[in-house]
Amino acid sequence: MSKTYSSIRGTCDFGPSQSLLFNTIAAKTRGIFRLFGYEEIILPLLEETGLFVRGVGETSDIVEKQMFKVSDKDIVLRPEGTAQVVRYYLENSLQNQSDFYKFCYVGPMFRGERPQKGRLRQFHHLGAEAIGSRSFRLDAEIIWMAVRILDDIGVTEKEVKVNTLGCAQDKQKFAGAIQIGLNAARSQLCEDCQRRLDKNPLRVIDCKNHGCKSVVASLNLGDDHLCAGCKEHFTQVLSVLDKLGIKYTHAKDLVRGLDYYTNTVFEITSSRLGSQDAIGAGGRYDGLIASLGGPQIPAIGFALGMERIILALGQEPVMPGVSVFVAPMSDDLSGEAVTILQKLRQVGVDADMDYCGKSLKSQLRFAQRKNAKLVVILGDEEWKEQCVILKDMRNNSQDKIKLEFLLDEIDIKL
Ligand code: HAM
Repeated sequence: MSKTYSSIRGTCDFGPSQSLLFNTIAAKTRGIFRLFGYEEIILPLLEETGLFVRGVGETSDIVEKQMFKVSDKDIVLRPEGTAQVVRYYLENSLQNQSDFYKFCYVGPMFRGERPQKGRLRQFHHLGAEAIGSRSFRLDAEIIWMAVRILDDIGVTEKEVKVNTLGCAQDKQKFAGAIQIGLNAARSQLCEDCQRRLDKNPLRVIDCKNHGCKSVVASLNLGDDHLCAGCKEHFTQVLSVLDKLGIKYTHAKDLVRGLDYYTNTVFEITSSRLGSQDAIGAGGRYDGLIASLGGPQIPAIGFALGMERIILALGQEPVMPGVSVFVAPMSDDLSGEAVTILQKLRQVGVDADMDYCGKSLKSQLRFAQRKNAKLVVILGDEEWKEQCVILKDMRNNSQDKIKLEFLLDEIDIKL
């Protein structure tokens, strides 16, 4: 017997009903992106490794542990979209064409993580990046848009957490304070965090390890590291969120695991998910464009995780189907059935028939499974009179219809 294959762990197949849900979510998201003035771009799945090493950060989990290398080249499957959008922006010198851009994207990302519920090796981002403004109103708009998308999709149970890291200098001060604060408790930290404490102390705040969490909790994080300008910026962001009626909590321990963030950061979590409870996250990255070789241009964005949205929705997927099913009672009428299908599809009615020689009873059962509202039954007797039977599957009624009136009758009934 020849070998059969399974999907790679940490990837998922979207069958017809899951695809329907996926596409509905993507369509609703694209609708909100349009509503807020964001333009969609489609970028490659492959990028140079260095883009993420420099962009996301050498000591980030993504770069340290999760990048999917493609063969022995210096190429990886993209783990996230922000550094990539910046690469696209700089490569096309867009800063010389306009001072402000709003981009959005929908597509797969890849991270070689140990798979678990909600943590995949291939997953999909619904992301947005606004480049060229430092306005606190834009920070609020980005959070507003993420919340609006989730509201429209129907993710009701969610919590918005916001925080500020301050500017690059503030962040450095913060890192220094954490290093000093945690040094005494170094031995209580996990192995990774002992290393992080020297190289990138902010990562320790992010650690999910229980021991590390309790050490961090004892730190009593304040906002002493923030300069007056950054404090004011954050206060203004919060006041716009208040005005918009967006509920949030100020989570002082929210630092995000990607190194490019400065100032406002946020995360949207759902209690319906397990330990991987973030449905989406984002923040400002005012230094990223410069660190990738461009000018000093501020930017902010977010990405929602499609698979986690689906988990948070927890709804039974609806089977996709067709509106009309055409069922010939004999093989002789199968050709006529194709002609009816052609007429229906020509006028834009989604319709299908059986291609496996099923009995009428089986065809009706199949039509039910396909969620057909109407079935056109072609019987020998009726056909002699140029008639068909139109069966309404919703109330089980049926009528004999003259062929010439069939399309009109279907139009009325659908
Ligand atoms: P991130 O927090 O790494 O941010 O990912 C955003 C979202 O993607 C997460 O909140 C989660 O829903 C989903 N996600 C991440 N990793 C996985 C995984 N392994 N399996 C399933 N879902 C996952 C970013 O990537 C930033 N680029 C977001 C951003 C855009 N910041 C500014 N602009």
